[in-house]
Amino acid sequence: MSNKDPVKIGLLFSDSGATSTIGRSQLQGALLAVDDINKQGGIDGRELLPVRYDAQSDPAMYARLAERLITRDKVNVIFGCYMSSSRKAVIPIIEKWNKLLFYPTLYEGFEFSNNVIYTGAAPNQNSVQLAEFMVSNFGARVYLVGSDYIYPYESNRIMGELVQQHPDSKKLAEVYVPLTADFKHFQNVIRDVQAKKPDFIFSTVVGDSTTLLYRAYAEAGLSPKQMPIASLTTSEAEISQMGANIAAGHFTSAPYFQSIESEANRSCLARYNAGFGDLCVPNMCWEASFFQVHIFANAMRKSGSDEIAAILPFVLGSEFEAPQGRIRIEPSNHHTCLYPRIGIANSKGQFTIVREARRAVHPDPYLVTHSLGDWAARIDNLEI
Ligand code: ACM
Repeated sequence: MSNKDPVKIGLLFSDSGATSTIGRSQLQGALLAVDDINKQGGIDGRELLPVRYDAQSDPAMYARLAERLITRDKVNVIFGCYMSSSRKAVIPIIEKWNKLLFYPTLYEGFEFSNNVIYTGAAPNQNSVQLAEFMVSNFGARVYLVGSDYIYPYESNRIMGELVQQHPDSKKLAEVYVPLTADFKHFQNVIRDVQAKKPDFIFSTVVGDSTTLLYRAYAEAGLSPKQMPIASLTTSEAEISQMGANIAAGHFTSAPYFQSIESEANRSCLARYNAGFGDLCVPNMCWEASFFQVHIFANAMRKSGSDEIAAILPFVLGSEFEAPQGRIRIEPSNHHTCLYPRIGIANSKGQFTIVREARRAVHPDPYLVTHSLGDWAARIDNLEI
């Protein structure tokens, strides 16, 4: 093998099915990084060659395609998955063949695989901050609604436990809707919300049906000033589907928003807009998908190989000037040091950042220490 052979990487996201909008944005984030790297001469002259499949938002399809990438396409590293159910389906395949998965999505935590690098937020980097923010600004009577699979169950459990630290807390309901829920499902949920009158709604609804929850809320005439929806998954991409006026006033906690004012963010968005146009709406999962490909490429420049045994020591502990700030892969648990932020959706379909960490918060995926105030140090931009 000549050392100028391309380096094949697997991109395993969903371009169809329930989570296609966010999946497409993750694919575009990865492709932007591939473009950056290839324009700079690849990895020591070796071009990055993505092999990509549409896993159709189906965990069984994710598992089949992961095995195909490894056994037929001969990739050593896969970048992919949005829903935790898809990650859980892929991990046994990755571990069986001893390959590496980079996972660019916030998730419920309570997991470690030596074969996975987790670059989205763990609960101590989004849920803890959101719980504190909502409870102190709106109250501790919460209504939990989510899509029917593992991430919402576990994320709701964590949010319920965090809110319970407040003396006046009350969990008024915990309801689940199918991933393919229709508008009627959400109208029923909103009727129940109107009867129970929580201080805020915590939504772990994911994917393309997110828009229906917010629409049902708006059509019922409810006001986010009194009883907002708080979420970890409603990003600029879902807002572009539902329309800025429907999302305005609701809250999301995430390490990245398009509105971050940093040179790295501005330059990344400008390259995306110039080279890729409007294939997706950049969001937290796009950003994680982008920076994790750079983390991989920088590590491979040092290891000279993408075999897990060779590259992993150079991935762990590595840092990158990401659009959200300088991130670092934490060697002890394979998760990422990230910057918690809370945004309120505004009339332009963007988030106004109302609170943000000054420094990156270490990932604590098992919530060993979880207090409501884990911000490293924080900046408050706006009084609510
Ligand atoms: C998720 O399922 N981790 C959003």
